[in-house]
Amino acid sequence: MSLPASISNADQEWWRRAVVYQIYPRSFADSNGDGIGDINGIRSRLSYLAALGVDAIWVNPWYPSPMKDAGYDVSDYRAIEPVFGTMAEAEAMIAEAHAVGIRVILDIVPNHTSDQHPWFQAALAAGPGSAERERFVFRAGRGAGGELPPNDWMSEFGGPAWTRVTEADGRPGQWYLRLFAPEQPDVNWDHPDIREEFTESLRFWFDRGVDGFRIDVAHGLVKDAGLVDIDGLPFPLPDDTPEHIEHPHWDQPGVHEIFRSWREVADAYDPPRVFCGEIWVGRDHRLTAYLRPDELHTAFNFNFLMAPWLAGPMRETITSTLAAHATVGAPATWVLGNHDVCRPVSRYARPQELVSPGFPHLQAYLDLPADLAVGRRRARAAALLSLALPGGAYVFAGEELGLAEVEDIPLAARQDPIVAGTGGENLGRDGCRVPLPWTASGDSYGFGPEGGAAPWLPQPADWGASAVAVQEADTDSTLALYRQALAVRAGHPALGDGDLSWVEAGEHALAFRRDPGFGCWVNFGPEPLALPQGAEVVLASGELVAGELPADTAAWLRF
Ligand code: NOJ
Ligand code: CA
Repeated sequence: MSLPASISNADQEWWRRAVVYQIYPRSFADSNGDGIGDINGIRSRLSYLAALGVDAIWVNPWYPSPMKDAGYDVSDYRAIEPVFGTMAEAEAMIAEAHAVGIRVILDIVPNHTSDQHPWFQAALAAGPGSAERERFVFRAGRGAGGELPPNDWMSEFGGPAWTRVTEADGRPGQWYLRLFAPEQPDVNWDHPDIREEFTESLRFWFDRGVDGFRIDVAHGLVKDAGLVDIDGLPFPLPDDTPEHIEHPHWDQPGVHEIFRSWREVADAYDPPRVFCGEIWVGRDHRLTAYLRPDELHTAFNFNFLMAPWLAGPMRETITSTLAAHATVGAPATWVLGNHDVCRPVSRYARPQELVSPGFPHLQAYLDLPADLAVGRRRARAAALLSLALPGGAYVFAGEELGLAEVEDIPLAARQDPIVAGTGGENLGRDGCRVPLPWTASGDSYGFGPEGGAAPWLPQPADWGASAVAVQEADTDSTLALYRQALAVRAGHPALGDGDLSWVEAGEHALAFRRDPGFGCWVNFGPEPLALPQGAEVVLASGELVAGELPADTAAWLRF
């Protein structure tokens, strides 16, 4: 499928500077009133996204799924989940996005399938020792009767990473590996069927005009051949870990060869398709190893997302990110949130010295005092900071509205499998997945049609105040700030890919210049910050006071 004129085929390096908007389809817009967002909902809002000024959308998994992990349990990689729509609608969405200049990135889930995937069902039916079981990771248990899991690996969602099956004779039998929910069996990447299934799935969607893929759990595909115990080894591995020490199931060196083969698939297209890896590895050099020229194009920068709102740690992570990416010639990405982490407004609302934000879904974190007005100021400043840094940026739907995490969803209404997996100890990720508010009032604040079913997660009573329609009418809104920032960025030769040079502006500030003629000044401290002489303020995240930058405010400058 060729691209329309509004997207230039000549711009093959678009991904080096792209602003990608993440759409969690369940939560974006519900066209048919069943309470769940869908593809036609996305289509109905493409003009909103074009007006916002994003270069691409990343759509979380939209494939057939029993929805045990909101679509990350895929039962068919080359079809559309009926709740979300049809293949014809998906193809129309891709074409319509392209027509308004927006590229489309899908989400591929290669670490595990759904337990309802035909291959897993066949593996269950075929029994121990069968060829069908080879596509997954089945093992006998430990202990006299095999009653203990094969090793000490733990699920990301709580409890052991193994589930025991009942064999055809009705007796407890083998165990299968599942690093996430029990309904998400890990596949065996040593198996040629698995390799072929995924490269064929990439081609299937590339042939339909899709511009790239976000790769789920990219650092998890390969497991230590002996399935050795973790034995207390922490992950991410600490910075000073000797290079010969590897974690048995994260970031195994064998993953790189898989992505080299994927790159060949993507490069065979015109224009070449692109990848962004979801890679939680901590150490910069292990992240950028995935971004060597023959592997993935980009990876989410989670170290930036995890950094507290403090000048020192922010500067440190920015500096080390840029240095590491330079070694492989890949652009950095700047990420403030996604569907797995607490929204930035609520993270930054807490005392930053006390928390290492990221996965703060525990009661102890929620109990920390939160000042949402401060969090919102900081999130606005962080938006200008992240959009000014060299490389690309991600915006998770709702960030442009300054939405806070919804922290008071009743336990019974929570859907995230982490809640059940941890016996309610971890409150899960639903708080950032609450369906978006489009209008000030109405049954679902414009998420679905009037009179439709209630949204799949309850929206808070004050949701309408953050609605798109409200913010469109307010020139000081966060939406207005994002629109202006993206408009400036799009036309500015200094922004996107490139370099920066730091300017010394005091202990509680970050300041840098980019050529030609651009500066970004950010005040993390309590005292107002003087701006440099002769610079004109192009955009600021808050009002200046007597020409100075107040606390928790960022400004874009023209020199
Ligand atoms: C990462 C995804 O972002 C998350 O939502 C999901 O639960 C896990 N991978 C498992 O697929
Ligand atoms: Ca729907």
